[in-house]
Amino acid sequence: MGRVAIVTGGTRGIGAAIAKALKAEGHTVAATYGGNDEAAKAFTDETGIPTYKWDTGDYDACKAGIEKVESEHGPVEILINNAGITRDAPFHKMTPDQWNQVIGTNLTGVFNMTHNVWNGMRDRGFGRIVTISSINGQKGQFAQANYAAAKAGDIGFTKSLAQEGAKKGITVNVVAPGYINTDMMSTIPDKVMESIVGGIPVGRLGEPEEIARCVSFLCGDDAGFITGSTISANGGQYMT
Ligand SMILES: NC(=O)c1ccc[n+]([C@@H]2O[C@H](COP(=O)([O-])OP(=O)(O)OC[C@H]3O[C@@H](n4cnc5c(N)ncnc54)[C@H](OP(=O)(O)O)[C@@H]3O)[C@@H](O)[C@H]2O)c1
Repeated sequence: MGRVAIVTGGTRGIGAAIAKALKAEGHTVAATYGGNDEAAKAFTDETGIPTYKWDTGDYDACKAGIEKVESEHGPVEILINNAGITRDAPFHKMTPDQWNQVIGTNLTGVFNMTHNVWNGMRDRGFGRIVTISSINGQKGQFAQANYAAAKAGDIGFTKSLAQEGAKKGITVNVVAPGYINTDMMSTIPDKVMESIVGGIPVGRLGEPEEIARCVSFLCGDDAGFITGSTISANGGQYMT
């Protein structure tokens, strides 16, 4: 059954693959982004999926953006919280700004989006919410205290909301990718990348489409018994 889906950060990388996968499943997809108009335009030209620009860290912008999507396409039944950033630094050098930016986008952004679709999902008795966390939210990572805290927070948030949504037909789950071949990886120096790949038992980075397949599985009408779960997709790098 075709439903209305929002994918935050759906114009590039993992989010773009998720948006395409959900469209291929027959859903009506709206992809959001934060600032890169050029990438958003190229994405719409390629896929026909409309894009919407707002900062997921801004509650009022999320509220207004979701209202616009709903006025154009109908009630949002699937929300994919994918938008995320890194601002890496060892903790002794990490600035309050680096901390706040990452928590603001990767954790508060998840609250801002979810809070603005939650009551509608409760009223209609159906919802699918999937948040993209990270292997580093599960195991921690040097120079990523901000990112790991936000991504671990996404998991706790999900387990709590899953309990609240269960009786209302809303499932809430996490997909925790390992290292995936996207622009986010391009900031990592080659030497560090070599050692990262060396630590992945399957011997390669993951592809965005491999994460998208997990997400689209969780969004299916027949995935209603899976809630509060974290699916790890990390090539065997970390087993929980
Ligand atoms: N790549 C990996 O190896 C990896 C591993 C584990 C988890 N993850 C997680 O997977 C998600 C996607 O990562 P990716 O590698 O695909 O990232 P990416 O290629 O850098 O793309 C990020 C997307 O998020 C959007 N975005 C960033 N900040 C935003 C904000 N404040 N408001 C709205 N949109 C915003 C970007 O919009 P613009 O184009 O406008 O910048 C872009 O569409 C993130 O949550 C990331 O933490 C990634």
